[in-house]
This record gives sequence, C-alpha cells and structure tokens, in this order.
Amino acid sequence: MKHFLEISQLSADDIHRLIQRALYFKTISSYPVYDKSTVAHLFYEHSTRTRASFDLAAKKLGMPILHFDVHQSAEKKGEVVGDTVRTLAAMGVSILIIRHAQNGLPHALSINAPASVHIMNAGDGNHAHPSQALLDFMTIIEQKPALHTLKVAIMGDIRHSRVANSLQVMCQRLQIGSLSLIAPPCWQPTTRHYGTVTDSLQEGLADADVIICLRVQRERLMVGEEVAFESYRQGFALTEKSLAYAKPDVMVMHPGPLNRGVEIDSEVADGAHSFILQQVQNGVFMRMAMLESLVN
Ligand code: CP
Repeated sequence: MKHFLEISQLSADDIHRLIQRALYFKTISSYPVYDKSTVAHLFYEHSTRTRASFDLAAKKLGMPILHFDVHQSAEKKGEVVGDTVRTLAAMGVSILIIRHAQNGLPHALSINAPASVHIMNAGDGNHAHPSQALLDFMTIIEQKPALHTLKVAIMGDIRHSRVANSLQVMCQRLQIGSLSLIAPPCWQPTTRHYGTVTDSLQEGLADADVIICLRVQRERLMVGEEVAFESYRQGFALTEKSLAYAKPDVMVMHPGPLNRGVEIDSEVADGAHSFILQQVQNGVFMRMAMLESLVN
C-alpha cells in the first residue's frame, strides 16, 4: 500500500490480514526490522494515544523516528504543509504520520507527495481515523469473532466523530450483524455508511454485544449543535443503568480521551465490561501492522 488514508481503501480480506498480523505481533517479542524507513509525525491536533502508539510501533520495528514538532516549525513563518512534506522527504523521511483538523488533507498531500513518501492518516477532521477503527475491531475480534451475528452500538457525538465514520465503513466492509447509531438529533450522522440511527438509548443498546461510546467533541460543535449537559447526561450517557439494556457480556469501548461524568461514568469506564485499556494496548500492535504494510 502506498498511502494509508481511510478504511474504504481496504477490502474485508485486507482488514482481516492486518488484524491477524497485529494479533501475531502481540504474541511475539522479536520483530522484523525496517531500519531504512524513517518516520516523522505531523500532528496539528493534540494526541496522546495515536501519537505515542505510532511512536512505540515504529520503535519496535526498528524505524528511525524524527521528533518533529509542527508547532515549532517554519510553518509559523508562512511555509505551507505541502512544502513541509517535500522538505522532510528531501532529508530522507519516508513515512509521514499526519493528524489535522481539515477533512481530506492527508489525501490531498498524498496526491502531490514525492514518490519516496508514504502518508499515514492519523485522523483528519471529522472524516477518518483508520488506525482507531482497525484497533477497535482487533479488540472486538479477540473477544467476539463471530462478526456476522454481532450487534454493535455506537453512541454519542457521531456527527463530529472521525472514529464513527471509519467504524461505519469498517462495519459495512466486514458485514457485521447490525449497527445502531445512537445520538441526539443534532449529533446524528449527516452521512450514513451502514446501520440504523436512533435517538433512543434503550432501543439502540438493546441486546448489544459491543458498545462504543464517543467523546463529546466540543472543539467541532457548530452554532445550533450545543446540547445542554443535563439533558445529554439524562438521555445519552453510558451509566450502569443504561449498560443494563445491553447483553450481560457486553464489551464497553471508547476511543479516548474520556470525558468522565459526561458521556461515560467512571463505574462503567473502569468496570468489568470495559476494554478501553485493551484498545490502547492493541493500538501499538495494530499500528505496527499498518506501518509494515506501507514499507513491505
Ligand atoms: N483515540 C484517539 O485518537 O486518541 P488521541 O487523540 O489521544 O490520539
């Protein structure tokens, strides 16, 4: 693969191959070495999980890492991001991991990037977050591999979530049993790839095998999209009470960062059903598989 931009690039077989490779990496301690491929991050938005796990993934694969901080770069003097890409490529950087608030920027950069460069999308606007969707399904498949009968519920601020977008495409590609998208009307998706939309938590969570709870993306809310905290908590928070609508062995997931006491209660986030830290752990192995797919 030349660039890793979104889940829709992948077939179901590609997805399963990547997940199997990540699961394999999880079982071993000596990894293949790709020391000719230098990695740099271009993170224009904040990150803990994605940036740190791509860093660790590159280290495990022996890839040299250029610690590059876009907020201290010559872009502050007017350089455009395309010139940053060409400049780093000329120095020998071969994988650029990009997070940006602008939808489609990694795709646009990939079109004009030097031939030696691979672009990895680490999240663009509310468009796509392919590594998150892959690590989420790696975590699901480890526990519940029968995807054709699986009921997944995604709840919260779906409209502004690149994770929800990539997960919908993933569910469509893998033809999972059913997908409920649960949100108040002003946060329901404007584009739906798969599943059914509801504003009833009880209906959407009924008999769910997997709940993926999303962060309220305050930084992306537009005029008229504000929801009062108390009414949101009342109708859409994942609490011990709302968790009871789902199956007794339901998996609770959240891409992070968590807004505890807003979209999810600590009793649930830290409870027996939570796979949130397993998602984080799997993120390192999944991103190893993704980096390898670019250079192999
Ligand atoms: N899930 C996710 O993208 O988290 P970060 O913003 O911490 O990378």
